[in-house]
Amino acid sequence: MHGLLRFGSSLLLASVSVEARGIPTTPFVNSDGKLSLSGINRIVVDSQYAESTNTKGETLIPPSLRQFAETFAKDLRGLRVNVSCQTGTNASSGSIFLTLGEPRDYLDVAGRESAEGYSLFVSNNGIRIAGASSLGAWWGTRTVLQQAILGNGSIPYGSLSDTPGWGTRGMMLDAGRHYYPPKFLIEMCAYMSFFKQNTFQVHLSDNLYNNVKIYSRERSLDLYARFRLWSDDDAVAGLNNYKNESYTREQFDDIQSACAARGVTILPEIEAPGHALSFVQWKPELGLEDDLSLLNISHPQSIPTMKTVWSTFLPWFYTRTIHIGADEYTAEVNDYNIFVNSMADHVYNEANKSIRIWGTFPPNYTDPGYTNIYKNVSVQHWEFFEDNPLHDYILNNYTVLNSDDTYYVVNKWSGSYPPQLNVSATFIGNPNTGGGLWYPYVFDARNSSNNPSRDEPLVLGGLSPLWNDYGPNATVYSETFYAWRRGIPALADKQWGGNLTAAEFEPILEVLKTYIPGQNLERAIPSITSTILEYSFDARYATGSTVSDRSGNGYDGSSDCSSTDKGSLLVDACTLTTPLQSKGRDYTLTLSLLLSSLDNATDATLISGLDSALMLTPNITLFQGGNHYRLNSSLALNQRLDLHIIGRGNQTFAKINNGTEEEFLTKMGINGERFEWGPMAIEAPVHKVGGEHAGWRGEMFALKLKSVA
Ligand SMILES: *[C@@H]1O[C@H](CO)[C@@H](O)[C@H](O)[C@H]1NC(C)=O
Ligand SMILES: *[C@@H]1O[C@H](CO)[C@@H](O)[C@H](O)[C@H]1NC(C)=O
Ligand SMILES: *[C@@H]1O[C@H](CO)[C@@H](O)[C@H](O)[C@H]1NC(C)=O
Ligand SMILES: *[C@@H]1O[C@H](CO)[C@@H](O)[C@H](O)[C@H]1NC(C)=O
Ligand SMILES: *[C@@H]1O[C@H](CO)[C@@H](O)[C@H](O)[C@H]1NC(C)=O
Ligand SMILES: *[C@@H]1O[C@H](CO)[C@@H](O)[C@H](O)[C@H]1NC(C)=O
Ligand SMILES: *[C@@H]1O[C@H](CO)[C@@H](O)[C@H](O)[C@H]1NC(C)=O
Ligand SMILES: *[C@@H]1O[C@H](CO)[C@@H](O)[C@H](O)[C@H]1NC(C)=O
Ligand SMILES: *[C@@H]1O[C@H](CO)[C@@H](O)[C@H](O)[C@H]1NC(C)=O
Ligand SMILES: *[C@@H]1O[C@H](CO)[C@@H](O)[C@H](O)[C@H]1NC(C)=O
Ligand SMILES: *[C@@H]1O[C@H](CO)[C@@H](O)[C@H](O)[C@H]1NC(C)=O
Ligand SMILES: *[C@@H]1O[C@H](CO)[C@@H](O)[C@H](O)[C@H]1NC(C)=O
Repeated sequence: MHGLLRFGSSLLLASVSVEARGIPTTPFVNSDGKLSLSGINRIVVDSQYAESTNTKGETLIPPSLRQFAETFAKDLRGLRVNVSCQTGTNASSGSIFLTLGEPRDYLDVAGRESAEGYSLFVSNNGIRIAGASSLGAWWGTRTVLQQAILGNGSIPYGSLSDTPGWGTRGMMLDAGRHYYPPKFLIEMCAYMSFFKQNTFQVHLSDNLYNNVKIYSRERSLDLYARFRLWSDDDAVAGLNNYKNESYTREQFDDIQSACAARGVTILPEIEAPGHALSFVQWKPELGLEDDLSLLNISHPQSIPTMKTVWSTFLPWFYTRTIHIGADEYTAEVNDYNIFVNSMADHVYNEANKSIRIWGTFPPNYTDPGYTNIYKNVSVQHWEFFEDNPLHDYILNNYTVLNSDDTYYVVNKWSGSYPPQLNVSATFIGNPNTGGGLWYPYVFDARNSSNNPSRDEPLVLGGLSPLWNDYGPNATVYSETFYAWRRGIPALADKQWGGNLTAAEFEPILEVLKTYIPGQNLERAIPSITSTILEYSFDARYATGSTVSDRSGNGYDGSSDCSSTDKGSLLVDACTLTTPLQSKGRDYTLTLSLLLSSLDNATDATLISGLDSALMLTPNITLFQGGNHYRLNSSLALNQRLDLHIIGRGNQTFAKINNGTEEEFLTKMGINGERFEWGPMAIEAPVHKVGGEHAGWRGEMFALKLKSVA
């Protein structure tokens, strides 16, 4: 649970100066007065619908109304509203009553019934939420939380009926060219869910750009390419050789259920016949000679191999639609279309699911000799140089998801895309479409003849990707969150059909971000002052004793190290642990220590935590996600010194005593042609000093963590 509110309500300040509209904006009709959540003591789930689930969404594991209510109760407790959760037949004073309403009252932009609508009624008696389905009611609970946060614990009396315009709203993460731990995906779902996004597409296989101009066949076969699912099934033996950077079935189940519990469906993508080097590294005979990252579809084993992969993993996936990739294939069009249709047939026959592809080769109905892709294959449009979504697809009755690359992110560095989602582009009016805000039906902000009408039913919604073009060492996990931190709420508003303006956005987000349940992606640590933790070993510590935290926060540690008469802890095959793990930006971590020896000069760990470790290799090194980020300096032996690690914004530095700061950088390989250096924002490791594999001996005089840099 998020501990931000532990130190009092001072963080839950002030209602915003603008009208508290929420993200997405809600058409709330206020009347005089407000209800304080402090008077709420229970959630009552309408017993006749308690076990009802939404059967119309993408997920095959939809939570019931009661299950959503239990998650909501946990979220309220995080706001220090102590609620019980029970079933009952009616609302009562001091309750939040959750029930279902009439589906026909909740219509999307195309005028179709949406299972995701809800209505909300707030009076001095309590709150009533009615959903078009259990999922609709869940979105209603997000509105209650947001209004309470914006209103300093109170919600205005009034009523609201709210339905998303579009059914697919979300983000896509390239987990092929960069691994992310399951917990990170789950926390991202929690963040997205707070803004009512319902889809998280996870791109599960890919490779770095196969630069055929300069790579030999051997180098291509050795290039970073990953397939992230781990199965012990013989049918895929050898496909994946990196178990520690993969999801087992159990882990993937956990990710899917934890996300579903907050209304977010994991949409899995396994990419072929392009971006398919991981399959070719497995079976080199399947690659095209002139570009091994493309499958040679006419090879008799290519389609059967991909069918085998899908047969192995289809039982893992709890969605009605799966994504087969099919992006940027540059060989034969006809082969491509045969491939897509074969996969569509296979996935339908094996698992009764539909498929989605990236817009790549538009259909051609004037050429009778041409095999077009089936009309029930949905298309994810991203760029006009690939397809014209209206003319090629919608007018031919294909459904289209809008992934306009205006909202693309390429992590850290790219020749073409920004490292953070272009938030201002979600607000900029388009003169050609009447100066309106961006919405999922707007494919072309400059030429409205490329856009269908707002109520076009074949537009599925909007979903924006983040790509890791330069691989695993360009970023740490949380840099993906920061690249999207403002982008998710900005896009979520428009994907829902909200009308937040640029001026309203920042102040509302500033207040909302103080409590977004189910995640702590910022790795915030509650603290009374800017000193979060302060241990100093100037008193005697007996073996096994508690180390008291002088910050006032009570983050006492424990240690089995003995103390010296010089006011230090003797670190020699013993451990000092704190109750903390990781601190995100901004911070200063200071270790006052004296190193007497290194067991292995290239492998000593000074302090470690959930996200990172501070090492001597012998260069001062931050280690994260399997990568080492090294400075040019090292630490002198047998000298007492202060080593400061400083996380300032999206950069990280080290400083010895009062010396100059040296920055931790990454060196990204750019397509085998050259390198780019980039900043790294690495969390401070604050959990464990010493231990069996620390690899050094010496004395610790003090350990201090501050929230300023
Ligand atoms: C917020 O509510 C708390 C009590 O719950 C109160 O002490 C504080 O003054 C309120 N702040 C504002 C800005 O209304
Ligand atoms: C946004 O929509 C609401 C109703 O949903 C309306 O009251 C409000 O005026 C609109 N704001 C803008 C800036 O269009
Ligand atoms: C929350 O309420 C329950 C009764 O509904 C009570 O037993 C419990 O002690 C309360 N917890 C807190 C932290 O107030
Ligand atoms: C509401 O429900 C409670 C128990 O759940 C019951 O005691 C009460 O009589 C009900 N009130 C009405 C007006 O139905
Ligand atoms: C469709 O096929 C016809 C006949 O082969 C050809 O003339 C036309 O250029 C094709 N259209 C596109 C968009 O490729
Ligand atoms: C699209 O579908 C509609 C309704 O099913 C049908 O009337 C129309 O002819 C179809 N258009 C094309 C181009 O297939
Ligand atoms: C780092 O932060 C600076 C200033 O806040 C910003 O201009 C820059 O784009 C950020 N870099 C990345 C890679 O996000
Ligand atoms: C020192 O550590 C490195 C990195 O873990 C390892 O490769 C090397 O074998 C170790 N050397 C010795 C002498 O143990
Ligand atoms: C997984 O293990 C390999 C081999 O030991 C290592 O190189 C890689 O860094 C590890 N990955 C992570 C994310 O720790
Ligand atoms: C370690 O630091 C030395 C200078 O002390 C530098 O020459 C070397 O390149 C550094 N090693 C790495 C891997 O950065
Ligand atoms: C570093 O500078 C500060 C004042 O700027 C001084 O108080 C402190 O003693 C200095 N520390 C060292 C180790 O030189
Ligand atoms: C990052 O990976 C590239 C290969 O893509 C490698 O050349 C480079 O040295 C690595 N950088 C770091 C800091 O490990």
